[in-house]
Amino acid sequence: MISFVTIVWLLLGIVAAEDGYRAWLRYAPVASSGNYSSLPSSIVLLNATRNGPVSTAGRELQQGIRGILGKRVDINETATGSPAIIVGTAEAYKLVYGDFEEEGELEEDGYYLSTEGRDIVIVGQNQRGALYGAFDFLRRIGQGNFAPTSHVSNPHAPIRWSNEWDNLDGTIERGYAGTSLFFQDGHRATNLFRLTDYARLLASVGINGIVINNVNANASLLSPENIQGLGSIANTFRPYGVRLGISLNFASPQIIGGLNTFDPLDPKVISWWSNITDALYASVPDLAGYLVKANSEGQPGPLTYNRTLADGANLFAKAVKPHGGIVMFRAFVYDHHISPDNWKNDRANAAVDFFKPLDGKFDDNVVVQIKYGPIDFQVREPPSPLFSTLRKTNVAIELQITQEYLGHQDHLVYLGPLWKEILEYDLRADDRPSKVKDIVSSERFGRPLGGFAGVVNVGSENNWLGSHLAMSNLYAYGMLAWNPSLEPQDILQDWIRLTFSSDPKVIDVITEMSMKSWPVYENYTGNLGIQTLTDILYTHYGPNPASQDNNGWGQWTRANKHTIGMDRTVKNGTGNAGQYPPQIASQFENIETTPDNLLLWFHHVPYTQVLKSGKTVIQHFYDAHYEGAAVAQTFVKLWESLKGKVDKERYEEVLFKQVYQAGHALVWRDSINQFYYNLSEIPDQAKRVGNHSYRIEAEKMILNGYKTYGVNPFHTASGYNAIVTTSNTTTGTATANITFASGTYDLAVNYYDLYGGKADYEVSINNRTVGKWAGDLEDKLGHAPSIYLDGHTATRITFKGVNVTRGDTLRILGKPNGIEPAPLDYVSFLPPGIVD
Ligand code: GCU
Repeated sequence: MISFVTIVWLLLGIVAAEDGYRAWLRYAPVASSGNYSSLPSSIVLLNATRNGPVSTAGRELQQGIRGILGKRVDINETATGSPAIIVGTAEAYKLVYGDFEEEGELEEDGYYLSTEGRDIVIVGQNQRGALYGAFDFLRRIGQGNFAPTSHVSNPHAPIRWSNEWDNLDGTIERGYAGTSLFFQDGHRATNLFRLTDYARLLASVGINGIVINNVNANASLLSPENIQGLGSIANTFRPYGVRLGISLNFASPQIIGGLNTFDPLDPKVISWWSNITDALYASVPDLAGYLVKANSEGQPGPLTYNRTLADGANLFAKAVKPHGGIVMFRAFVYDHHISPDNWKNDRANAAVDFFKPLDGKFDDNVVVQIKYGPIDFQVREPPSPLFSTLRKTNVAIELQITQEYLGHQDHLVYLGPLWKEILEYDLRADDRPSKVKDIVSSERFGRPLGGFAGVVNVGSENNWLGSHLAMSNLYAYGMLAWNPSLEPQDILQDWIRLTFSSDPKVIDVITEMSMKSWPVYENYTGNLGIQTLTDILYTHYGPNPASQDNNGWGQWTRANKHTIGMDRTVKNGTGNAGQYPPQIASQFENIETTPDNLLLWFHHVPYTQVLKSGKTVIQHFYDAHYEGAAVAQTFVKLWESLKGKVDKERYEEVLFKQVYQAGHALVWRDSINQFYYNLSEIPDQAKRVGNHSYRIEAEKMILNGYKTYGVNPFHTASGYNAIVTTSNTTTGTATANITFASGTYDLAVNYYDLYGGKADYEVSINNRTVGKWAGDLEDKLGHAPSIYLDGHTATRITFKGVNVTRGDTLRILGKPNGIEPAPLDYVSFLPPGIVD
């Protein structure tokens, strides 16, 4: 029989307000807990050091079991003879209990979990492993999975780090979830309490290292005061087995060391770094190591002194070696001033060009950290050819959890499938199986080290990433780094059960939305391997395809009136295809064997080129943008079907984002389609592009206190124009006679929400107010702000079920605020089922 206490417990779990802070570690009660009535009532911790991971495991189990099962368990430090949950290292376990029956060897950080006998045994190869085993156990029971198990689990690779791009002033580069948890005003943050909870989240998915400052590093991190501060930060992560690392500025000896050089071979420089390293290890004795971005995007590096990148990396490797540290040296080295006039130039070639000659020249404690694709976290890229090029060098893969080019956490993009595709990619080095996952694990080329780095960029927002649903990416990152053979959908569903609920409807809906989300985003942003067609010169958020070309950044599309795509072939192009091992190289060299989704990555073709699907490139662009945006609309309805099944707070917050995404997907759709239609002048066979029969353009309304404004980029406004108030103190009105047939419509208003002001709007029909709103998305969304009318700020608000009679008067009143001149683009009267 279920007790009264259990009922109260279950009810509390359902109705408690949730803000996402506890993410997947909510330890919510599970209904079938009765199945686990025989759970031992005590935990025995073996060799628990104060504040070590085994002690943490004990506390975590106590808290988790209380939450999930409503059961109190005591913690003992010696064996009691009664049934117990025994937690410790393998060594300690064997001393007390003798051998345990494991199948398979325990490797570093690995664990053995057995729930089959009288005791529950959680044994780690080291203390960290024991903590991971405890989290495995809690993940199981947290999902109501009480099936007996006995298994060994070892991580796929030794390095499983998070990278955070936090600046000392408290901002976060490419962070969309508030301000830094680590730093403020040039120093470490005064309040570190959230770091413990972050460490907990990371440890719960097997992350064992964290680099806390921006790769574009500020040398003053190395001031004596900040070095001390790092000690306090490391203390908060240590109980969770997460070791601290830092990013270095290569020129530090000159910037803060008073030297006149930062030449890596100069003895003064060498001893400066060795002293700084000693000081760092005095403050953080278990410092994991350094992360270095050198000679990239204006950062200093060894090339300034005609030294090689290996000289630069080895300088640090030698300094940390006596302390057991490692150096993650980034392969993201390229010249961002390359000339687009040279057809053969290609930023995608840079990593292999720079690093291939250096293979074998890096010290053994250097790991070259390679972004998954050759350019920069685009919506679709082939794997970087550097993975198959470096045979005598340790490598790690760099993934990005923060959605820099993928919608800034305001668009839902579940990245598990993208990462999985890259990790499973077989590069066929020497015509042998060479999956990226086996290269980065160090197995394929027999290296001592290898692994994963994930750029996370959590911030001060309660829900860590600024979006509840985006947290599946952090969870999936940890899970795939531990075991890349897992299926992204399985990972996702575990996450849903732990984060939301085991209700099948909740699981189905979030699974459907998430699993569709990457293809959907690819469809309405940039398809066929053309990259995310965003504004690469500014915030990397909204559409701006023209920004990709004619500059030195090298994210070119080479689009002109007739043709599009980068020719990366060996025969006519940049030769990038030839950087891959022969089997893959010949696949990419030939149009016929290049998959459609990478066609424009490798080939420059006419818009009329016919794809394997039978469509032309241009028609595929049009169709994909319409399809992607249409599916994004369905996410709103899908989510709405969970009303009452998800707590109110998270339900409303996710709904808000999905509605926003649905509107912004249309901005993307229209903008990209209009741009390529203008360029190619090839009409859409379905006649959708440029035809918007349900719209009233704001600039065509009768304006009072408003004026027409030519938007830039032009294609981010319907009809290329918007309206703004005539001054930043004038209230404007725009009126129009409604000529649509009488009936009920959803009334959508497209406007621009700028950073730096909160304009007020009111829309009415025949003086009857339909709705009011404020341009305050800067407070409600996470994406990087813009102060212009453009693809970043273009957005939509919809009022549903509005009754209209032909001949009614539509009026919009806009009251500017700050720099926001109440900008309006158009109004759509949408009959049921129409999206426009
Ligand atoms: C991208 C990103 C930068 C970042 C860089 C890097 O270019 O936009 O903000 O510094 O990658 O990874 O170093």
